[in-house]
Amino acid sequence: MRKARIAGLGFYVPENVVTNQDLTSFMDTSDEWIRERTGIEERRWVVPGEDTTSGMGVKAARMAIENAGLEASDIDFIIFATLSPDYYFPGPGVQVQEALGIDTIGALDVRNQCSGFVYALSVADQYIKTGMYNNILVIGSEYHSGGLEKTTRGRGVTVIFGDGAGAAVVTASDDANRGILSTHLHSEGKNATELALIGPATSRWVDQIIADHSEEDTSFYPYMNGNYVFKHAVTRFPEVIMEALMANNLTPADIDLLVPHQANLRIAQFVQRTMKLRDDQVFNNIMKYGNTTAASVPIALTEAFQQGRVKPGDLICLAAFGSGFTWASALIRW
Ligand code: ACO
Repeated sequence: MRKARIAGLGFYVPENVVTNQDLTSFMDTSDEWIRERTGIEERRWVVPGEDTTSGMGVKAARMAIENAGLEASDIDFIIFATLSPDYYFPGPGVQVQEALGIDTIGALDVRNQCSGFVYALSVADQYIKTGMYNNILVIGSEYHSGGLEKTTRGRGVTVIFGDGAGAAVVTASDDANRGILSTHLHSEGKNATELALIGPATSRWVDQIIADHSEEDTSFYPYMNGNYVFKHAVTRFPEVIMEALMANNLTPADIDLLVPHQANLRIAQFVQRTMKLRDDQVFNNIMKYGNTTAASVPIALTEAFQQGRVKPGDLICLAAFGSGFTWASALIRW
């Protein structure tokens, strides 16, 4: 069976830099608290009206297509992962199809939050392997800042999230030894409301939210049980990385670069220690971008590639954990 490989990567982040200090102008927080707990120094936030989730996704996609040495017309399928679509429905996959002017190819939307990109990559991997498609565009993009509660009440969530997009073009590998080796996906829905945005939903539509609106109603802001999520993340990351390694008869020492979802620098450092990985085996850029959810893995992978840390023959591990809870890993021989 043929293998799938990543032929081109791209990312886009808004120009508008929001530092930790900037956040102190509208909530009770501090640069010290945010750096100490999360490692984040700054993030990018869209200037309202200047961009959208699909718009950023298209910019990242154009870069990935160009870096793959392809034209938009070569793409035969789109997979778009996000938790912050421009519209409640349809999802942004179709907007990318329209913006890139690609014929009436299929467009699939993935709703798996922080692990969305790795889930999307696993779908692309299978479609390429079976020969169903040849060049699949996989995008993760988030416009979080528009929906965050920018007050002291929302600080536990708001300081973490940033906006941006990352993309990859997945194509058939002409080398049987190179490409995506395996992907591993998990979920645990009993934790669905530990990290969630409850409204709007068809069971609680906008007019009802407005009618119910009181100062106490926070159901239209993301909620996160931070400690609880942290504890699960530091267990699930090593677990799903080990699962991928064992499925391929490999060990942590074989990893050239782990690109974890950028949820919190402390989580990545904990995973690094648990797995006894050296500093040069782990890539982190949360300091500059915060947590960009479905966009974080492709943004980090693109930056790592640009910095020469992803080379032909390297063993690259992608891993993510987040809302759902869902978690996933992918092992790639580059
Ligand atoms: N600035 C200052 N103080 C704050 C802030 C802030 N931004 N946020 C919370 N605090 C305060 C709290 O009010 C609390 O004060 P209290 O002790 O007086 O009550 C204190 O700091 C500690 O709050 P905790 O929430 O317990 O802080 P914690 O150490 O757990 O750190 C954090 C919070 C950073 C969110 C951490 O729990 C975390 O990173 N969790 C995991 C996040 C994650 O992995 N998410 C998954 C991906 S996201 C996705 O899938 C969409």
